[in-house]
This record gives sequence, C-alpha cells and structure tokens, in this order.
Amino acid sequence: MIRHVVEVELGDRSYPIYIGDYILQGFVEKFREKLGVAKAAIITNPTVWDIYGNQVVKSLSAERVDYDLIIVPDGENAKSLNVAERVYGELIQKGFERKDAVIALGGGVVGDLAGFVASTYERGIAYIQIPTTLLAQVDSSVGGKVAVNHTLGKNMIGTFYQPSFVYIDVATLKTLSDRDFAGGMAEVIKYAFIKGEPLLSIIQGRRDDISARQMDILAEIATICCLIKGGIVEEDERDTGLRAVLNYGHTLGHAIESISEYKYSHGEAVAVGMVFAAKLSKRIGMVGADVVELHKRIIGSYGLPTTMISASIDKIIQVIERDKKRAMGGHVFVVLDGVGNPVIRNIDREDLISALGEFSKEG
Ligand code: NAD
Ligand code: GLY
Repeated sequence: MIRHVVEVELGDRSYPIYIGDYILQGFVEKFREKLGVAKAAIITNPTVWDIYGNQVVKSLSAERVDYDLIIVPDGENAKSLNVAERVYGELIQKGFERKDAVIALGGGVVGDLAGFVASTYERGIAYIQIPTTLLAQVDSSVGGKVAVNHTLGKNMIGTFYQPSFVYIDVATLKTLSDRDFAGGMAEVIKYAFIKGEPLLSIIQGRRDDISARQMDILAEIATICCLIKGGIVEEDERDTGLRAVLNYGHTLGHAIESISEYKYSHGEAVAVGMVFAAKLSKRIGMVGADVVELHKRIIGSYGLPTTMISASIDKIIQVIERDKKRAMGGHVFVVLDGVGNPVIRNIDREDLISALGEFSKEG
C-alpha cells in the first residue's frame, strides 16, 4: 500500500512522491490520473527489466496503456550522449510525440539518462521516475537534476527537469545487491548528519531492521529523506546556494571515485568523504572528537569504508582542484557546525594538505 505522499512544491513544476511497499503495479493508476492517455516509453536496463518487467507489463496492459520498451545497457556507461542518441532514435521511429511520456524504471543511471532524454526530446516531454535502488529512492529521483556524462567529466551535459511524479516501491530493494544497498545507505547517513533527528536516531537504533530490509522502516527512511531533499530543492531548485549542502562528503568522495577508477562506488567514496568532512569540521573547531567517532561508528556499522584510500596527497589535491574550478575558487567543503547544521567553507590549501596527510596516516 502507499504509506506516504511527499509533495515537492515548485509552483507549476510541483509533483508528488508516492512511497509504499509492494505497490509497483499501482503506478499505472497515477500515470493515467496525471498524464491521461499518453503513450509510454519505458526506459530501463536488462537487470531491472528481468526482475520487474512482468509486473510493469501486467499493470500497463490492465489499464490498456499503449507502451514501447527501450532497453539501455546496465552501468554508468549508459549515461552517455551515444546511448541518449540511440534512445532519441527509437522514440522518433516509434512515433513518440510531445503529449506522450517517458517512464524511468531503474536506479540513478536510468533515471538520469531517461530524465535527460525526456527533457530534450521534442523540447521536453513528461516523465515519471520509478526508482528501484536505495540511492535513487532517497536521492537521485527527486529534485530534477538529469544528465549524461561527457568523456571529460561526469554529469557535464544536463538540465534541471522535474518529473510528473515519483513512485517509490521499497519492496524493489529486496533484490538489490548488498553493495548497492550499502551505497544507498551512505546517502541516507549523509541526510542524518546534515539534518540530525529523527534520522540520526533511526539509523542507529534500527540498524538491524534496516539491514534486514524491513519494509516499514525502509518506507519511513525513504519518506524522511524525500522530505529533506524535497525541502532543500524547494528552496534552491537551481543549485545556487543551499542545495550544495547535499554534497556533504562529496568533495573528497568525488576525488576518491575518480582516483580509484570507480572501484569505489559513489556511496563508498562518499562514506570516506564524510569521515574526512567530520575531521575537517573538528579541525576548524566546529565539532568535537565525539562527532568524528559517531561518523566512523555509523558508517562502519553499514559495512561502508571509513579510512582513506592509499593515494598520494598531490594526486588527491590535483583532482579536488580540477573540481574546484567549477566551484568558483577555494577548496570548497561542506562541514558541520554541529550535527544537523551544515555550512560551506573554503579550506586553505595548506590546511587541506595537512588534514589529508593526517587522515591517510590513520590507515
Ligand atoms: P545504478 O543505477 O547503476 O544501479 C546500481 C545497480 O543496481 C545496477 O546494476 C542496476 O541494474 C541494479 N539495480 C537497480 N535496481 C535494482 C533492483 N531493484 N534489484 C536489483 N538490481 C537493481 O546506480 P545507482 O547507485 O542507483 O545510481 C548511481 C547514479 O546516480 C550515478 O550516475 C550518479 O551520478 C547518479 N546520481 C544522480 C543524482 C541526481 O540528483 N540526479 C544524485 C545522486 C546520484
Ligand atoms: N544529489 C545532489 C543534488 O541533487 O543536488
């Protein structure tokens, strides 16, 4: 059943997020309600379609919604202009028009690609997000950032384009790999540190239930995270200020992803980045050692890494500085002025080198 509905209020781009368990087949009712008689292009990958295709087809057929299936490869490489070009071709050949709609069924990769295609095809057609990974349910399906990668950088070609609705069935997380589940938990932990309660107590007190993927607690977590992200997006849809706090742990995290050549998943890299951000916060006198320890304890309890990768400090600084150019000067970090109170700080180069040196030595 649908347990919660979170509304993202963005004027004429407002939309609901439906959250529940074992609700996948019900998405078609909302599709009809919001998008009328539109024909649907389901964009998904083989992994997700193998598991959930039957349910989706059954519900579309029951409501007599006309649809076409567009399968893209599994993995980050699907977020490319080449794959987008192929998808545009299929949409044109299959006669999709502006009154039709795209259904993004999958994790963050499918959501970002399908959303980007929807935002540009015929200058924009409607799309809905049916996220099936924890990361996508608590983060990427909400907020309208859609993009593909360029060979020179991740997410370099993109738009802001809000979906017509987001439909979250936490029961789909039952089939997710442990590693992808843990990766999604890194983003949940991020929200706990930037917003504090009630999430902070939930992820500590209900760890076993969360790891066992109990439906009630997953629905509660998804709801809280969507409320937090939706609230931030409502205030800063275009990412000109407040939205940057969602990048807690991401400055070093992005560098680790890149230096490890993506052997560290996004979530694993962000996990290490959050421990470092906590240490930086302590270094500039904003939190005590207890907050650093809390980071290590919570992050470690979900099977995520808490120590620095072995890489030269020079290399890390170089990669952070490559990102820095896009961050308008300075080594921009989100730090905590106490748990639940993220602030943006420019960190002095020498301080950063010294902090990274210390973190690396801890092993
Ligand atoms: P992903 O989409 O690659 O999914 C991870 C793996 O899980 C894939 O192999 C996928 O096929 C599989 N999978 C998906 N659902 C499944 C299910 N229910 N059961 C079994 N397997 C399933 O990765 P992700 O972590 O979901 O997303 C990462 C992407 O999200 C990155 O490209 C990142 O840039 C993007 N992202 C975007 C935003 C945003 O605001 N737009 C925010 C954060 C991350
Ligand atoms: N995931 C960061 C953002 O949506 O802004």
